[in-house]
Order: sequence, then C-alpha cells, then structure tokens
Amino acid sequence: MNEHTLSMRLERVAAHVPMGARLADIGSDHAYLPVALMRRGVIEAAVAGEVAITPFQAAERTVRENGLEQHVTVRLADGLAAIKPADAITAISVCGMGGETIRDILEGGKAHLRGHERLILQPNGGEQPLRHWLMENGYTLLDEELLRENRFYYEIIVAERTTPVIYSAEQLYFGPLQMQARSPVFLAKWQRMLRQKQKTLASFEHARQAVPEDKVAEIARQARWITALLAG
Ligand SMILES: C[S@@+](CC[C@H](N)C(=O)[O-])C[C@H]1O[C@@H](n2cnc3c(N)ncnc32)[C@H](O)[C@@H]1O
Repeated sequence: MNEHTLSMRLERVAAHVPMGARLADIGSDHAYLPVALMRRGVIEAAVAGEVAITPFQAAERTVRENGLEQHVTVRLADGLAAIKPADAITAISVCGMGGETIRDILEGGKAHLRGHERLILQPNGGEQPLRHWLMENGYTLLDEELLRENRFYYEIIVAERTTPVIYSAEQLYFGPLQMQARSPVFLAKWQRMLRQKQKTLASFEHARQAVPEDKVAEIARQARWITALLAG
C-alpha cells in the first residue's frame, strides 16, 4: 500500500469522501489516504493528524515527496485537536483503530466539531459503542459497508448530523443498514461470530474460576441475537 495504490479497505473509505471535500484524516499514519485523494483531485485540501512522532514524520515525508505541502497540512496532535477553525473541514476520516478509540477521539474532540462534517469511520471492532455514541450525539448513519480483506472483516460507517434517529440495541450491535441489506459478507461475518460466541460460552462452563454472571448473560444474549438474525 502507498499513496498511489491504497488497500481495498482505504479505497472503500476513499469512496465515501465527497468530491471537493476539505478532509481531516485523524490517525493518518503515512497520510496515504489524504495524499491519494489530493493526487486524484477528489479533495480540495486536507489535514493529516497524528499523535505519534514516527507516523507523523512518515506523513510529512509522503506529503513532501508528492509536493503537496501547500494542500495537505500534517499536524502532530491528539485526535481532533489537529483541526483548526480556519481549515474549514467538511469531512473527517478516522480509520484503522478500535471503535472505542474512535469514539473517545470524537468525544474528546467535540469542541473541534462544527457539526456538519461528514464522518467516515473505519473501526476495527467496537462498532457497537461507536454507533451508540453517534446516535447519542445526533448523528444519522448514512451508509455502512462491510468488507473482507486478508481474512479480516472491516466496517465503514458514514454518518452526518441530520434528523436524530433512535436505533434499537440490535441495530447498534449489527448496524441498521447492514441488517437491512443482509449482504453475503455480512451473513458470513455473523456466522463466524456466532461460532466464536458459542465457543466462549462453552469455555465458561469449563472455567476453573466462576465467570461473572452478567458477562455470561451478555454473551448469551448476543448469541441469541445472532441466531435470530441468521434465521431471519
Ligand atoms: C493502525 S494506524 C491506521 C492508519 C490509517 N488511518 C489507516 O487506516 O491505514 C492508527 C494510527 O492512528 C494513530 N492514532 C492513535 N490514536 C490517535 C489519536 N488520539 N490522535 C491521532 N492519531 C492517533 C496512531 O499513531 C497510528 O498511526
């Protein structure tokens, strides 16, 4: 992967960035996503935010090697603190981190959100708490994608603040749009997840120390939801 050829995962993220956007890519690592989008003429400008020095330097190098210093600003910053009002950001991508980390970045950086940015999020697990945060903060899920690359499943969640929507607990768990679409990759993921939950429940029964009841109940509830989803 590089700024010319994105992974399939980042390519699908790129597809949700609107033409002419001013993008903030938070946790940008090598800044491949903003640089690729800038090279393709999709975005007008970008900020690549990084909290760690080595990826920050890698991002600076990618931008410099592509001669894009005037268009892609690299900032060493924690989360949304990379965004300044003058950037007039219209889309924010946060990709390749746990859903809880993405949620914490959004929650901790609320002061930097103007409210009408499109959020393009690609969590690696922890989708449920992330969707919960989005709902609680008045975001509607506009699009959801699930793809499989190198044996891993990746979700992409696109959200904007429009009319607030209430999602059920199951919708927050599975993704409301994915539940509707029931794509083959979605069903395959949840078949795998059901096998994992059943294994976990079986291991609890043989555990030497008693597993807390609420933990067992939570996993059993998830297994019931998945069974019902797959039966439907
Ligand atoms: C696994 S990489 C993902 C890189 C790229 N976004 C992608 O999807 O390929 C995660 C990056 O997020 C950065 N990161 C983690 N927490 C962050 C935070 N609070 N603010 C900015 N960057 C963060 C890490 O330093 C790391 O470079």
